[in-house]
Amino acid sequence: MHMTSAEIREAFLAFFAAKGHQRVPSASLIPGNDPTLLFTNAGMVPFKDVFLGDEQRDYTRAVSAQRCIRAGGKHNDLENVGYTARHHTFFEMLGNFSFGDYFKKEAIDFAWEFLTGKLQIPASKLWVTVYTEDDEAYDLWANHIGVPTDRISRIGAKDNFWSMGDTGPCGPCSEIFYDHGDDVWGGPPGTPEEDGDRYIEIWNLVFMQYNRQADGTLLPLPKPSVDTGMGLERIAAVMQHVHSNYEIDLFKALIHDAAEIIGTTDTSSQSLRVIADHIRSCSFLIADGVQPSNEGRGYVLRRIIRRAVRHGSMLGAEGTFFYRLVASLVRQMGDAYPELRSKQRIIEDALRREEEQFRKTLERGLAMLHDAIANLDGTVLPGDVVFKLYDTYGFPMDLTADIAREKELTIDEDGFQAAMEQQRQRAQQASSFGVDYNQRLKSSAQTEFSGYANDSDVATIVELFVDGESVTELAAGQKGIVVLSRTPFYAESGGQVGDTGKLTSQGVEFQVTDTQLIGKAIAHHGQATGKLTVGDTVSAQIDSERRESIKRNHTATHLLHAALRNVLGEHVVQKGSLVTAERLRFDFSHYEAVTAQQLDIIERQINEEILKNHPVEAQIMPIEQAQQAGAMALFGEKYDDDVRVLTIGAYSMELCGGTHVQRTGDIGVVRIVSEAGIASGVRRIEAVSGTGAVLFNLQQQQQLRQVAELLKTDSTHVGERLQQQLERSRQLERTIDELNQKLAAHAGSSLVDNALTIHGTRVIIAEVANIEAKALRNMVDDLKNQLQSGVVVLGLASDGKVSLIVGVTKDLTARVRAGDVVNVAAEKVGGKGGGRPDLAQAGGSDVKALPDALATAQAKLEELLR
Ligand code: ALA
Repeated sequence: MHMTSAEIREAFLAFFAAKGHQRVPSASLIPGNDPTLLFTNAGMVPFKDVFLGDEQRDYTRAVSAQRCIRAGGKHNDLENVGYTARHHTFFEMLGNFSFGDYFKKEAIDFAWEFLTGKLQIPASKLWVTVYTEDDEAYDLWANHIGVPTDRISRIGAKDNFWSMGDTGPCGPCSEIFYDHGDDVWGGPPGTPEEDGDRYIEIWNLVFMQYNRQADGTLLPLPKPSVDTGMGLERIAAVMQHVHSNYEIDLFKALIHDAAEIIGTTDTSSQSLRVIADHIRSCSFLIADGVQPSNEGRGYVLRRIIRRAVRHGSMLGAEGTFFYRLVASLVRQMGDAYPELRSKQRIIEDALRREEEQFRKTLERGLAMLHDAIANLDGTVLPGDVVFKLYDTYGFPMDLTADIAREKELTIDEDGFQAAMEQQRQRAQQASSFGVDYNQRLKSSAQTEFSGYANDSDVATIVELFVDGESVTELAAGQKGIVVLSRTPFYAESGGQVGDTGKLTSQGVEFQVTDTQLIGKAIAHHGQATGKLTVGDTVSAQIDSERRESIKRNHTATHLLHAALRNVLGEHVVQKGSLVTAERLRFDFSHYEAVTAQQLDIIERQINEEILKNHPVEAQIMPIEQAQQAGAMALFGEKYDDDVRVLTIGAYSMELCGGTHVQRTGDIGVVRIVSEAGIASGVRRIEAVSGTGAVLFNLQQQQQLRQVAELLKTDSTHVGERLQQQLERSRQLERTIDELNQKLAAHAGSSLVDNALTIHGTRVIIAEVANIEAKALRNMVDDLKNQLQSGVVVLGLASDGKVSLIVGVTKDLTARVRAGDVVNVAAEKVGGKGGGRPDLAQAGGSDVKALPDALATAQAKLEELLR
């Protein structure tokens, strides 16, 4: 029987649906709300919480064809792609699941029936493995199904105990293998030849029983469950009677199109397989919202794209090629995955940009790498080379490893990591403010923050610290930290700086210069004028004016974030922020400089929203509710169950714990001060608001006025006037050039008139001025022509340097070599020269000795011409 990939996918879903399984569509490659996992790497990932008993669904059996990525984290096949017939960064996993419903017997029955009944695969082609200790599964295969025992092996935990990640659901498993026949090299599972391509695992049945904890302990799941996974590409190879996944319908088409785009004819090339594999993972990742970047998921994507680009360049691809494959992929998979079709443009754009960027350094990086390999002693590429390739040429470590592997070399990974770490430390030192003492401190106090509504409060001192030690008393004049039971002081977090202000207790004042968190305690840093004791009652008053500026800048940051997404696109993600009283700074992902026009639109949009005077409101709600409402949150950040959601009218919604104005009108105005790149794919905008923006406007106005005054006009005519001035200075330069030429010609003719005659030969020896050193040559040639026969020696002193030049007409070079003359002269001015017999030049630094040098040249000529 022969089946296409699409037919197998549908047959699988229909088979299990008929057996009471709910058809569940493929989830995103980005696991929802699961910080433990980089990518959806198996069919069970979307059901993780159901297995754990944390989530109930109205079905206990499910079936899916789930898109998966195995290119980072626990399950990573990136390095194998291109080297084996069956590994992919992206693949589709067909799976049936039981959530506390059926267990081993039915799972095994279903799998056997589907393979041998529905797909009609001969039983004699199938082998199975069970977990070493799983007698129950062994018995089911041997006695219930009747698989001959020489085709059942018991295998240890490495292959037959499946875990989703370092934590989460796991259990022993049983795998089904297909024998591709004796014309393919390899041995059955458990033999030394098992890594060959003859016996291929096609289906994994996992008997989910445990929840692995971070410390490694296994807690039982609420109910024994089943998770299975069959790679669509592998079973398609079986059903299409080919021995490699790369020969199935889907890949054949991709490889054919890739070869055509690149302009190669060798369709068996390993590089084409790599490219065909990588276009799938990259396109699906971008469709699911990932953009190339330097960290996390974005970096995995970048690594895969760059690897594909390098393989294309090996095949001789000219210009960008990778993004042009998206159309082919859409033809192959767009029906099963409509999102691929609807996001085609976005995918193509992101891939093209990344490819263009990497192309700029690829060739130079490769040249450097090939040099390093040529000069290599041994077989290990040193860590500093790998690092330089990474740092200067944008070669991800695994890309370098991939190239090294082709030359049978390995890389020094530890050395690379060490170099990375050093760079990280250097960067950290360069940016640290030295305030790390509060990281060492420990406090069990929990301060209530009352500063959203109030600028002042009355509270009790619950803890005091001096020099990092907990104390009961703070003496007069001592610097230290005061922790209060409640406080209106905002402690630095979420990019917003800490408040300043003062605490007072019975005439004693404590000037607060900074506020930081110690765990859940709010720590006021400062100095007391008198004694403070734990238990004292204090009134706390923040610097309200400063806080108002901070609030304006913080709300402005949210407006900026929303405007950036509106104007530049949804790929804009916050990478960091700093909100102070003076200004705001916002770092975000974006792949190119924001143009001046875009900045204008962004600035105008922000100010329009300010004018609409939206209410700014905070609301506490469960994280799920916030996410459903579409609140923007930071990826990778850990949030509490209940979060604070800040909305600005209908314009912006973000999770935020900071302090904000009440209505956007309170901000007054926002001005963007600068935009720049701070890392690959990360931009930074600085802006000011309120009084800061007014000040900024005034400064700009003053500058403009100054310029206008210098140009003797008013500010409205500055441009026009400047244009005139520039035109005028260009004209003046032209006039000066002309005059110089005339001057030189004039000087030349008087030099000829005043030529000496030494033993019958005409000689010009002169110090010239008002001419550029590089014009000396022309002048000498000119003088030689006028003399027809003779010697010319010129000296020029300018900018503290001496230039000497000697010219000899051809008829005299047998007697006088220009170099000999220029050298004796150059010695006097502390220089050395050289050139041809008819023209030689020298430089020197002793300007005062120039007359002496010329006299020496004359003496030399008298000697030579005698
Ligand atoms: N989750 C199992 C696997 O990925 C089925 O192999």
